[in-house]
Amino acid sequence: ELGYFTYDPGFTATAACTSEITFIDGGQGILRYRGYPIEQLAEKSSFLEVAYLLLQGELPSAEEYSDFERDITYHTMVNEQLNTFISGFHYDAHPMAMMAGVVGSLAAFYHDRLDMEDSAHRMLAAKRMIAKMPTIAAACYRHHMGWPTAYPQNNLSYCERFLHMMFSVPAEEYKVSPSAVRALDLLFILHADHEQNASTSTVRLVGSTGANPYACVAAGISALWGPAHGGANEAVLNMLHEIGDVKNVPQFIERAKDRNDPFRLMGFGHRVYKNYDPRASIIRKACHEVLQELGVDDPLMDLAMELERIALEDDYFVEKKLYPNVDFYSGIIYKALGFPVSMFTVMFAIARTVGWVAQWLEQSETPTKIGRPRQVYNGPVARDYVALDKR
Ligand code: SDX
Repeated sequence: ELGYFTYDPGFTATAACTSEITFIDGGQGILRYRGYPIEQLAEKSSFLEVAYLLLQGELPSAEEYSDFERDITYHTMVNEQLNTFISGFHYDAHPMAMMAGVVGSLAAFYHDRLDMEDSAHRMLAAKRMIAKMPTIAAACYRHHMGWPTAYPQNNLSYCERFLHMMFSVPAEEYKVSPSAVRALDLLFILHADHEQNASTSTVRLVGSTGANPYACVAAGISALWGPAHGGANEAVLNMLHEIGDVKNVPQFIERAKDRNDPFRLMGFGHRVYKNYDPRASIIRKACHEVLQELGVDDPLMDLAMELERIALEDDYFVEKKLYPNVDFYSGIIYKALGFPVSMFTVMFAIARTVGWVAQWLEQSETPTKIGRPRQVYNGPVARDYVALDKR
């Protein structure tokens, strides 16, 4: 429900929006998509089925799912001019910089014939975003690698298709690993939506101005990039590499506790969860399974486990209720699947696009006033101008 709080007499600001999509209880570590516990969806559903649930509000029948999957598959291609756009980036441009630019430009290709007053057109735009994000992400990665574009193979499933677009090379037949597909599908489910986090709130704020959905998602991508938000999965891997060895963990724990040291234990803490992030528990278990299935023995996993153990025994982290969050283990799985660290936040963006467009649709369906956060002014009181020769 709407939360109100008062800064000063006579001045109140709405603190939140209303939404039927995702419920979080930070104290209990509960996360539900449209009322379904994340644990059940992680175990029994698929990313595209969760996408349908988040967009439509109900789990699909077999026919509804088949139609939805067909619609998504139909829109996986992007205009060839976008590959020309991508080829203009320097080869080592960060893929999140490329994504923000390319996704924002989709309005130049797909928006002029849409009427945002028409709910069917709004749903079409939402499906287009979900369909095209993996294609754009893979094209950004292949540009960096100097490889030719791999076009979407529409006979493959959503995650298979993405892995194929990412890693297939012309010289050889790329076989997608079923365990890699399952791991990716699980990670995408867990990252799909998360109530009014910074990037989703950005999408809603931009959407409240009537901006087109591509501009809204591009703004969400930019907000997600920050290391305090979706950029944390990349920062966790960089931090683990910096720690290097279990024997160095105590000194980094001390740095994280020092308020004069800007170092933060990346992948720990959360504004809402003051208990274990339920997604982190699921990913932690999947991490072990995926590394075992893929036969990967990653010392970073051992280091992460030891870091988690020591941190959770430390009074500071216990008192501040700082637990591992969704980003702490996800990067280890992405690394095991062959993704470079620079692509980790892009993976988060692909999955969160479902939540962004679901919340954009929800907001678009009801008349919404433009977002206009207020402030507490604590600058100088009124004063008169002083001529230059008097200063
Ligand atoms: C995501 O909002 C969402 O839902 C986001 C997300 C989603 O799905 O969209 O869940 C995804 O962004 C997860 C968070 C990923 N970020 C990181 O892992 C970066 C490291 N974490 C911190 O930057 C931090 O925990 C935040 C940004 C996540 C939360 O910061 P807050 O809101 O300031 O945390 P807090 O108010 O609960 O902090 C309480 C105290 C503070 O110290 P005091 O001011 O009380 O002295 O704990 C300290 C913080 O300084 N603290 C940390 C810490 N996180 C908080 N100290 C050391 N290491 C940390 N990681």
